[in-house]
Formats: sequence, C-alpha cells, structure tokens
Amino acid sequence: MKNKLILFSLLLSLASSFTFAQPPKDFSFKEWTPGMAWFKNAKLGIFIHWGLYSVKGISESWSMYHKRISFEDYMAQAKGFTAENYNPQQWAKLFKEAGARYAVLTTKHHDGFALWPTKFSHLNVVEKTPAKQDLVGPFCDALRQEGLKVGLYFSLCDWSHPDYKPVVFARKGVVNGSYPTDDYPHQGLENLSPWQRFIRFYQGQLEELMSQYQPDLLWFDGDWEHSAQEWQAAELRKKLKTINRNVILNSRLRGYGDYKTPEQGIPITPPKGPWEFCMTINDSWGYQPKDTNYKSSYQIIRTFSECLAMGGNLLLDVGPKADGTIPEPQVQRLKDLGQWIKKHEEAVYQTVAGLPWGHFYGPTTLAPDSQTIYLYLLNTPKEFVALKGLHNKIKKIRVIGQPDSKLKWKISGGAPWNNIPGVVLINVPEKLLDPFVTVLAVEIEGKVKLYRAPGHAVQLND
Ligand code: GLC
Repeated sequence: MKNKLILFSLLLSLASSFTFAQPPKDFSFKEWTPGMAWFKNAKLGIFIHWGLYSVKGISESWSMYHKRISFEDYMAQAKGFTAENYNPQQWAKLFKEAGARYAVLTTKHHDGFALWPTKFSHLNVVEKTPAKQDLVGPFCDALRQEGLKVGLYFSLCDWSHPDYKPVVFARKGVVNGSYPTDDYPHQGLENLSPWQRFIRFYQGQLEELMSQYQPDLLWFDGDWEHSAQEWQAAELRKKLKTINRNVILNSRLRGYGDYKTPEQGIPITPPKGPWEFCMTINDSWGYQPKDTNYKSSYQIIRTFSECLAMGGNLLLDVGPKADGTIPEPQVQRLKDLGQWIKKHEEAVYQTVAGLPWGHFYGPTTLAPDSQTIYLYLLNTPKEFVALKGLHNKIKKIRVIGQPDSKLKWKISGGAPWNNIPGVVLINVPEKLLDPFVTVLAVEIEGKVKLYRAPGHAVQLND
C-alpha cells in the first residue's frame, strides 16, 4: 500500500511538471508580425556557438550539466578563452559570402557565461577571460557593415545562477548554486524571492542586449524548465516589442515568439507559419575538434533546398575556436554553399514554398508570381526528369546558372481534352548538371494550375 502511495505521488508530481511544460497554443504564427519581412526572404542564417566550451572542445554547457566536468574545471576554461584572433569583419564577410542574410551569436548559453560585459553578473568575458573585451558589440557592427541582420541567442535558463534551480530534467545536485553568490550582485534585492530576483536578472540582461546592441532578432533557448507564466513570457514579449516593435523572437519563449525553431531533424511536413531549421555542420554546436563527422557541402545544399521548398529558412551552425577563428572545414562548407547560392540566386531568395508533394520527386519552389516553377535535382537524372499534373502550357525550361540553356521536353500521355495533363519529360544534358544540386526553371503561361485529382475515366476519345 505504502509503495502504491509513493508511486501515485511520484506520478502526480511528474504529471504536474509536464502540465506546466506544455507550450501555450500558437498565438503568433497566424500571420507575419512586423519585422518579419526581411526574415521571410532571408533563407539562410549562420548560427555561431561560441563560449568557454571551445577551450577544451567539450559540449556547450551540457558537459557541465551531465557532470562530465566539474563546475570549477568548466569555468576554469575562461583562462584559455583568448579571442586573440577574433575578427568579426572577417566572420561577417564569410557569412555574406556564404549567402546568409543574418547571423545569430550565443551571447549567453545555459552555463550563464556572458560574451558581453553585463552589469548583472561578473561571469562575463571582460571580467573573467584574457579576451577582456566585449565580443557582442563588434559582432553586431561587423554584420551591419556587411548589410546582414543581427541575431542574438540568449539562454533563459542559467545553470550557474544561485537563484536559478534547474527543474525538469535536472539530477539532484548536478550544477547550480556552485558559483559564488558574489558574482551576482543583487544588493537591495534581498527581500525578493530567489525566483523574483532571477526574473529581474534575466530580463535585465535582455534589456541590456536590447539597448546596447539593438538586435533585429532574439533567439531564445532553454525555456523548457519553466512555464510561460513563470518566465512571464507574455509580459516579456510585450516589453521587448515596446523597446523595438520590429525585433523578432523565435518560439523558444514558451511559444511567445514570431517563428518556429525546429532543430537537427529537417521537418517532414512543414511547420505552420514562418520557421527556421537550425542544424549543426558536424554533430556539435560548439567547437569540438574530435568531431570530424562533417556534413558534406552536397548534404548541406540539399537540406537547404528542402528548407526552401517548404518555405523555411536554414540556420546553419558553426563553432569557432577559443581564439575566434572558424575551423577550416567549416569555412570550406560555407564557401561551397555561397558559390551554389550565388549561381542559383534566382531560385533562392525570392522564392516561396513549392508544389505539394506528388508532382515532382524532389524539392520545388515557385517564383513570387507563380509563373516559374523551380525544380531542384538532388540526384543525377536518368533518361529524363518528370513533372506531373501541370495544366499550364510551358513556355521554356532552362537550367539556372547556365545562360541560354533551353532544354527540350515532351509531354507524354494524358488527355488534355478531358482535363488530364500528361507528364512533362525533360531532357537534361549531363554537361549542364551542377556538381551539387541542379535547378531547372520551368516557365509557364499564367499562374501555376495543378491537377490534383485521384484520376478518372476519359469519357470522350478520338
Ligand atoms: C539545444 C541545446 C543547445 C543548443 C541549441 C541550439 O536546445 O540545449 O545546446 O544551443 O539546442 O538550437
């Protein structure tokens, strides 16, 4: 009986932790909120995970959370965080060359270590590392100089803060509270509860970021340990939008954001509303030299095409070393991606999500006027490339990036007099193929009109 009771109360406490963990209903994804216009056509962003963890090349914050390293040893990495070759202009130029329209820097990860001189905690790059300089400001300036939008990543949870208790998945005594309270000046706030103090702390840091750097985008993370109510997410959203009505927020503010943030697994069905898929370039977010499991340039371009076809953006992550340089294999991949985008620009920035599944076996997008269909060939075609169920007459088919290429096609089968279109069989000469992903532009008469029927008998024949 006693055991049953214990089990019952355990289940009850688990259930309650999961009830508060439920995100609120989508309230903001129904339409594009102000400030989202640039995001819609940005298509590519670069994510940068840079922090103490790059010194030992271990996982960002999680290594400490899982006790693979002690809190003290984790923080001792600060001594090796030199940023001596930090050259944000070079970063920004590289990101631009990659074809990105924005970049997002981890200003503070779950470990609580800030890359800017926050007045709310001594746990920051100026006070604790030989870098001794603000790393966020120069990043923002450099991006702006290159015409890129500025995104700042900020972890809501803070596993160092003495007033913060990791809740949901924390194993007892894992981290937290180990950092000397002196490092979090909170004079005059002794009468508040720890959580009230923490709210002031994290929202204070966000206000700092907003006022000092005027980001175009705030990228939240680590919201899972508390409910929207506990984070005061609705109020925070309002506050941030009052400071700058154009700032956009990702959804990891317990859903109170402007766009969704799927991670690591490319969506199979596109999320509703605006979204961005974030993905590591190898298997790690931060710099981990042991991780050589890099995605190939082809794989990255392929994934990027898939995002385009579903109307989303790709946020591709890089992990700079402690000195501020981006590892060569990562640079190479960004350059390949950039070259591909440059050649295929027409089929990138201005496009919208393509045809529904079934017409073409691969990603497709549409030009904004819906009079050109772009077909992304992920594989070398055999004999022909097929496009099905297209009612429109085709004017021309060309290969993007191959001036004056006019492809031959024929229509096979169908019964157009009975409103059943034939299959378009396109001939693509091998010499016109791109080493990564070839894109065909199918120019049609009028706006795209698709045959979506399950099929029917032809009632009138010749
Ligand atoms: C996860 C991880 C984190 C990483 C982030 C990027 O939430 O906690 O380490 O920064 O994903 O999307």
